[in-house]
Amino acid sequence: MERVISGIRPTGNLHLGNYFGAVKSFVKMQDEYDCMFFIADWHSLTTHPTPENIRKSVKTILSEYLACGIDPEKAPIYVQSDVKQVLELYLYLNMNAYLGELERVTSFKEKVRKQPDNVNAGLLTYPCLMAADILMHKADKVPVGKDQEQNMEMARLFARRFNRIYNVDYFKEPASFYFAHKAVKVPGLDGTGKMGKSEGNCLYLCDDEKTVTKKIMRAVTDQGPTQLNQEKPEVIQNLFTLCELICGKDAAEYYNDLYNNMQIRYGDMKKQMAADANALLAPIRERILAYSSDDALLDRIMRQGAEKAAARAEKTIEEVREIIGFRKV
Ligand code: AMP
Ligand code: TRP
Repeated sequence: MERVISGIRPTGNLHLGNYFGAVKSFVKMQDEYDCMFFIADWHSLTTHPTPENIRKSVKTILSEYLACGIDPEKAPIYVQSDVKQVLELYLYLNMNAYLGELERVTSFKEKVRKQPDNVNAGLLTYPCLMAADILMHKADKVPVGKDQEQNMEMARLFARRFNRIYNVDYFKEPASFYFAHKAVKVPGLDGTGKMGKSEGNCLYLCDDEKTVTKKIMRAVTDQGPTQLNQEKPEVIQNLFTLCELICGKDAAEYYNDLYNNMQIRYGDMKKQMAADANALLAPIRERILAYSSDDALLDRIMRQGAEKAAARAEKTIEEVREIIGFRKV
């Protein structure tokens, strides 16, 4: 069975961007592939969270993953920092990664802009740690959002480069896997760009019914079309994209026809979006509460996940040490 791995940085609650861009596809994939999912807490150190932040966010993501339907019996969930073998592979990959190519990574450049006082080496070598996460498991497929494509290219590059340097055919190149055969970019409720925690434009999986409704009803729109079959401005296109994700294709087409006929009433469209979003989120919300109040269960799930991941990781590290020329330990 093909292997699938994906990680997420624990930086707060999951939002609809995470859900449609990642978690929903995980739930589907766990029945079709040999999956593991992990919480990338080492990666989150690049932004210097406090110990309380880390502990809380790890628990949050785990509860929310479970609430979305990831079943640890089918797909183990582990915490990155519980599987120390990844650090050794990270070190080896760092030795074969060049400053110039790391500096050219868009997300690095973005971070330099966003946190100029904290341009740490971990930010620069972020793609090396991510590649280690993936190559460690010899993953065939990695479900990621569009924003991760460059990191995925780096992972493939490092795999090829390792093979070339040591003249082996050891690491295989992991493919990016997009849910629905293409990368989804979930727009934010402010009509611009993508839904993201730092943008303040998110609908969170744990938002209560009132909040969901309020946020959707306030989503940015315009005065409406002034011509038949008018091309949609970006804010409106984004609302339609969200509508299709939340309400489905048929509903989005219905409103699209209304738009083209200049009969659209954004308020009606948003009411349906709010109702459907609440129908989707209500059971998830309930399960989040149940899981997050059961520390013993969460602990057991993390421990079992780590054991399975470490067993696989240990094998890779033994083989890699041998290839590089280190003694067996
Ligand atoms: P983040 O919350 O930014 O760390 O993202 C975690 C995962 O969710 C990554 O695989 C992202 O690509 C995906 N993701 C986050 N925001 C979006 C979005 N607005 N649209 C699509 N995927 C997203
Ligand atoms: N960089 C990913 C993100 O921000 C998280 C991540 C870390 C990851 N390691 C990974 C994703 C390995 C897939 C595979 O979303």
